[in-house]
Amino acid sequence: MPDIAALEAAFIPELPNYYRGKVRENYDLADGRRIIIATDRLSAFDRAIASIPGKGQVLTQTARYWFEETGDICPNHVLDYPDPNVVVARKLTILPVEIVVRGYLAGTTGTSILTLYKQGQRAMYGTSLPDGLRDNQALPAAIITPTSKAFDGGHDEPLSAEEILAKGLLSQRQWDEVSAYALALFARGQAMAAERGLILADTKYEFGTDNEGRIVLADEIHTPDSSRYWFAGSYAERFAAGEKPESFDKDFVRNWVAARCDPYKEAIPPIPAELIAETSKVYIRAYETITGRSFEPPAGKPAPLERIRRNLAGYF
Ligand SMILES: Nc1ncnc2c1ncn2[C@@H]1O[C@H](COP(=O)(O)OP(=O)(O)OP(=O)(O)O)[C@@H](O)[C@H]1O
Ligand SMILES: [Mg+2]
Repeated sequence: MPDIAALEAAFIPELPNYYRGKVRENYDLADGRRIIIATDRLSAFDRAIASIPGKGQVLTQTARYWFEETGDICPNHVLDYPDPNVVVARKLTILPVEIVVRGYLAGTTGTSILTLYKQGQRAMYGTSLPDGLRDNQALPAAIITPTSKAFDGGHDEPLSAEEILAKGLLSQRQWDEVSAYALALFARGQAMAAERGLILADTKYEFGTDNEGRIVLADEIHTPDSSRYWFAGSYAERFAAGEKPESFDKDFVRNWVAARCDPYKEAIPPIPAELIAETSKVYIRAYETITGRSFEPPAGKPAPLERIRRNLAGYF
């Protein structure tokens, strides 16, 4: 594995209006641009559990690939890429709804359709699913399962289109527009993933509005953190055998932690270096498989934060 130093945090005192997200460190410039630095933090259990060398670059460059490949479908927030871990974007007003699109009956969280379906629910998120679907089966058509965007670390709640409109979270026109964008982006994502031997099972989009009220794609797109990818080659056989599809397995750090403590209450024990290195490899492999490009490890010197500061000096 390339020897890459981890970027755990990215506080740059010369930049204004600092906001630290779970994974990204954000700075809003006075002129309406937002500098978004993807760190290597691995977020789980509502906290950062580790730093995975290369992860921030993988996220930024995977999103870059997809922003470039989907610019004809929908405008996006990108202005510039001054560093492998950084996108300079148009600062938008982020819509309070996360647009999750799902092509398969999958997921493990409380808001995932597989969890709800197994509890016997068929009507969810304003759509209804047929009986008799099995774990990880393709849905008759991709569906949007919107959730409220929990700003500042809260938890997302499932919504239906009716609720979104009734609560005034989006106007009818906005809902229609983001739905159409999201389904078109997802269709492009699935088709391009298929060319690379992958199934894009589900993903999450964040949209915002610009000063003129136009809807623009923000945040990240089709990254390993925002999306579930499966390996197409083994899908049918595994599905037939009732086995989980093969995927980029990033969960072993999470599982290791969950097996050793209650991460919501206790301190997390030091994570073995081999697990971190293995996760780093998985992210890099994901980037290379998804995009067909080879990962360019940044030179060892200077240290990543110092490099980023230098690359951003023009914005001070
Ligand atoms: N173009 C943009 N304009 C304004 N905000 C943006 C833009 N793109 C992304 N964001 C926001 O910047 C933040 C990125 O940081 P990160 O992804 O680490 O946050 P998070 O922890 O996932 O989100 P949250 O702040 O909702 O908890 C998110 O809050 C995201 O909604
Ligand atoms: Mg985020």
